[in-house]
Amino acid sequence: MGGRLAGRVAVITGGASGIGLAIAERFLAEGAKLVLADLNAPLLAQRQTELGDDVATRTVDVRIEAQVEEMVALAVKRFGGLDLAVNSAGLATWAPIVDHTEEQWDTVLDVCLKGVFLSLKHEARQMRAGGAGGAIINIASLNAFQPGEGMSAYCAAKAGVEMITRVAAMELGGDDIRVCGIAPGLVDTPLTTPLANLPGVREAYLENTPLGRVGTPADIAAAALFLASEEASWVSGTTLSLDGAANTKRYPELMKLLAG
Ligand SMILES: NC(=O)c1ccc[n+]([C@@H]2O[C@H](COP(=O)([O-])OP(=O)(O)OC[C@H]3O[C@@H](n4cnc5c(N)ncnc54)[C@H](O)[C@@H]3O)[C@@H](O)[C@H]2O)c1
Repeated sequence: MGGRLAGRVAVITGGASGIGLAIAERFLAEGAKLVLADLNAPLLAQRQTELGDDVATRTVDVRIEAQVEEMVALAVKRFGGLDLAVNSAGLATWAPIVDHTEEQWDTVLDVCLKGVFLSLKHEARQMRAGGAGGAIINIASLNAFQPGEGMSAYCAAKAGVEMITRVAAMELGGDDIRVCGIAPGLVDTPLTTPLANLPGVREAYLENTPLGRVGTPADIAAAALFLASEEASWVSGTTLSLDGAANTKRYPELMKLLAG
């Protein structure tokens, strides 16, 4: 175990699965104490058992402000404050704009963008009150920059995450609170593996990924650790692309691939 985050307290939304979970495991190994927040209560209970007493879990819907506020309050009550936050809760829908339902649009925008706004708001309030600064990492996406057909809601939400990251960094810098984003390309997680395993989909991503492989949650966790650590003390207001250089090429034509 390293000690790069010793004495630090973090909240991680979407922490029961995929990228959020990998970041949780990495932060724990570096000595942090964590509040893991997720909508998936059974999975969260499983993580509580697996990860032990340096972790507190809370069932939270990031769309609901009172629940987000309680998540932050739990970090203070259980571990004495809040130094770090990772906002990873997210989901996606796939349909052309002409077929995308209002409900799909609202769900994606509410979870991926409003959820980040509410989380940032309460995490930053607590860090400001604590008076010792902090670091907040928002998980955006390659789709913040690169359009993907059938992904209007997701692309719009993630572009919004990239922008609110910059606004928050501007507003909170005076409190020594850093705000950064991570924009992953395709990473194998429960969110993406079913789609990536459809015929031709993984191949299309790889064709457009100069480094020739998809990402792992551990790839994202390594960058999150850097952004959370003191070594990144002059990094704020930026979103780091972690995509094997996929941003230099084009996004796969998912609708054609899904139509078969
Ligand atoms: N996997 C990828 O290829 C990829 C690429 C780019 C960006 N991302 C982003 O990374 C983040 C994590 O995704 P992942 O791939 O680890 O997926 P995942 O499904 O493994 O994890 C997402 C977690 O968010 C939780 N969640 C969903 N809605 C929630 C809500 N309303 N409140 C609280 N928790 C909620 C889910 O229960 C789940 O545990 C997301 O924001 C996603 O958009 C993923």
